[in-house]
Amino acid sequence: MKLTIIGAGNVGATTAHLAALFGVAREIVLLDVVDGIPQGKALDIYESLPIIGRDCRVIGTTSYTETAGSDIVVITAGVPRKPGMSRDDLLATNAGIVKACAEQAIAYSPAAFYIVVSNPLDVMTYLTLKVTGLPRTRVVGMAGVLDTARFRTFIALELGVSVEDVSAFVLGGHGDSMVPLLRYTTVAGVPIEQLLPPERLAALVQRTRDGGAEIVAYLKTGSAYYAPAAAVVQMIEAVVHDRKRILPCAVALEGEYGLSDVVCGVPIKLGRAGVEQILELELTEEERNALQRSAADVRRTIDRMEELLQHHPAT
Ligand code: LAC
Repeated sequence: MKLTIIGAGNVGATTAHLAALFGVAREIVLLDVVDGIPQGKALDIYESLPIIGRDCRVIGTTSYTETAGSDIVVITAGVPRKPGMSRDDLLATNAGIVKACAEQAIAYSPAAFYIVVSNPLDVMTYLTLKVTGLPRTRVVGMAGVLDTARFRTFIALELGVSVEDVSAFVLGGHGDSMVPLLRYTTVAGVPIEQLLPPERLAALVQRTRDGGAEIVAYLKTGSAYYAPAAAVVQMIEAVVHDRKRILPCAVALEGEYGLSDVVCGVPIKLGRAGVEQILELELTEEERNALQRSAADVRRTIDRMEELLQHHPAT
């Protein structure tokens, strides 16, 4: 299993580190445009492995030739948010970066499974699909696992229970209009609505929606990376070990949930073949409307991106 991670910033490097620790790859290639950073971070991670007791080649590079024949490619390149910015504010900068990365990566790894992490997440996933020309089963965005992990953490904190026993679902785009689904959120099988009053639940939902911004407000110079990287590694592990895990991920919809030509977070079955199934949960009218609104937000940003790329192809 060869894993390439594009972007050796906080998310990319932490993903490389966790992937090595969890033993999900035999070879990890960390790539960045800034010479020295990927080599230094990769070597540092490599040198931690005798202590951890893992065998995995960890290579840092600025050259796509080193990524050739990867099984999984993770795109984290781009700039992160600063306080006061929305994920969509990153569009003009990150569209050009992600487009260039996807174009080069696909030339060397046409058979890989692609995981997109750069923001605005759903739109960058859509762009990667278009640029690579891959089927939607082989390109997904990481957001739902992160958003549900945040929701699970807040619920576990509130109830004083193990984070592992909380299971949650968040649908929609990775933005302010994401849709945490309370009806599908349980603690050891018990519906959350039986355990917490509506006003507390509403507060936890809002904190989940603002979860990324909460971290940005603390860090000031960038956004979250430990939880995002852990989410990516869980997705990699599902593919590598053919776990057929049901995880919320951003995928291109072709009629599911009444949506098409848009990327949006929904539950999928993730295994060796990539996206093996898209699960269509039954939604109430209110939930369906919230998902439609979230998808419409993503669609508007896709339209803006297409305009940007048309007028400034080198953006
Ligand atoms: C977050 C950013 C990385 O949610 O999208 O933390």
